[in-house]
Amino acid sequence: MYKEIDWKRIDLNTAPPREEPERQYYYIALCRELVQREAEKLGRPLTFCVTTFGCQMNARDSEKLAGILKETGFLEAEEERADFVIYNTCTVRENANLKVYGHLGLLKHRKKSNPHMRIALCGCMMQEPEVVEKLKKSYRFVDLIFGTHNIFKFAELLAQMLEHTGQVIDIWDGTGQIVEELPVERKYPFKSGVNIMFGCNNFCSYCIVPYVRGRERSRRPEDILGEIRELAADGVSEIMLLGQNVNSYGKTLEHPISFGELLRRVEEIEGIARIRFMTSHPKDLSEELIQVMKSSSKICRHLHLPLQSGSTRILKAMNRKYTKEQYLDLAARIRREIPDISLTTDIIVGFPGETEEDFLETLDVVRRVRYDNAYTFIYSKRTGTPAAAMENQVPEDEVKSRFDRLLALVQENAKMQTARFADTIQEVLIEEVNEHDESLLTGRMSNNLLVHFEGDASLVGCIRRVRLDICKGFYYMGTLIPEEKE
Ligand code: 5AD
Ligand code: SF4
Repeated sequence: MYKEIDWKRIDLNTAPPREEPERQYYYIALCRELVQREAEKLGRPLTFCVTTFGCQMNARDSEKLAGILKETGFLEAEEERADFVIYNTCTVRENANLKVYGHLGLLKHRKKSNPHMRIALCGCMMQEPEVVEKLKKSYRFVDLIFGTHNIFKFAELLAQMLEHTGQVIDIWDGTGQIVEELPVERKYPFKSGVNIMFGCNNFCSYCIVPYVRGRERSRRPEDILGEIRELAADGVSEIMLLGQNVNSYGKTLEHPISFGELLRRVEEIEGIARIRFMTSHPKDLSEELIQVMKSSSKICRHLHLPLQSGSTRILKAMNRKYTKEQYLDLAARIRREIPDISLTTDIIVGFPGETEEDFLETLDVVRRVRYDNAYTFIYSKRTGTPAAAMENQVPEDEVKSRFDRLLALVQENAKMQTARFADTIQEVLIEEVNEHDESLLTGRMSNNLLVHFEGDASLVGCIRRVRLDICKGFYYMGTLIPEEKE
């Protein structure tokens, strides 16, 4: 395990090992020397900042980057003062890309006044060849560029960047490799994401993820369980199992197991009080999973079940592999079996060929499922996806009007759903001191709702009972219940 490695004992006069993760351990040891040398020249430690765009998967990847940087001797700093700035990018919608280019403009200026500053770009956007071409041509000040498949090689790439001048670029087309036992620096001491699988095989026709994250591969259950046991021993009480489609977990393993079975095994781990997971594809959500959730005392009462569209015709064009009726039936079954569950979703408006009738079907599903919350997106054309080549792209003003109507309905529903918990007492995991008012703490309920209440900062990380007094639409103001004396 990397925690037991004494980096000083790695012999840098030998050739780097071929096997992973030993090869990366070698490069971490090398980077430690290189970083120390630069720090001595500067007369102060080197600093870094990782900025994450996009989803939970990327957030977890950023923790892996930070873990390696800390091992090599970098200290974390605000982006404005960091010697090494890394953007872990997203490309799911065009907006995500535009944001990165915007930030790069600012970095260019900063680098001019701070020439020893270094910049790295990684993540999903780097898997797009046109992006890398553009960076090579017009963004020469970026020092290191790598993608999603070789993130485990970060220490090796870091060494290359520190040893050479000029742009280091390493992008892979894909990989079947999963490298375990690399350092991770968690953002929160009490909760953590845990990757259970990588990639996606679904090829929804609008989505770029299968092209940038590659084919689906599951981690072995023993590796996942081992990691969770270590996290529990380290004080983590809530974990979020991460995958693009967790419901198909384990299908490609040498000894296949279902996601429901994995959850049962995670549930047995002492010290873990709460289990979350993200994301579920409705086509693969099994009855077994519903029953495992229903009978579990640790799996949180929250299910994110992306709808994307309520029109069977559009769902077919999206390659989602379920109909409106099948989705409604599934949602009704889940609500019947687990009445206190909170259901959230993702919806895209303006998919090519979407008519007013199709859109009304989406509104109909939203009304019937009564989502506790929904993330609504305007369709964004992604190069290389089948939908990008479809005719009948919907006019912008039409999409905007549909988006506004959908958002209004979603918000109305969310308020109603949130209000149903008024005056109840809920267990919350206390996550932080409120940013705007230091006398308040913020806690997250099992169903993912937030509540603010008075309390002492020493309670951050604890699970406590809170009365929900006032519903504020999407969150609550509450009162901490004093702990009963034993
Ligand atoms: N345009 C708009 N939204 C998209 N999503 C994925 N691809 C696109 C796209 N091309 C949304 C889906 C998905 C969420 C993560 O992002 O709703 O569930
Ligand atoms: Fe963005 Fe999707 Fe990649 Fe996550 S998986 S970083 S949302 S493109």
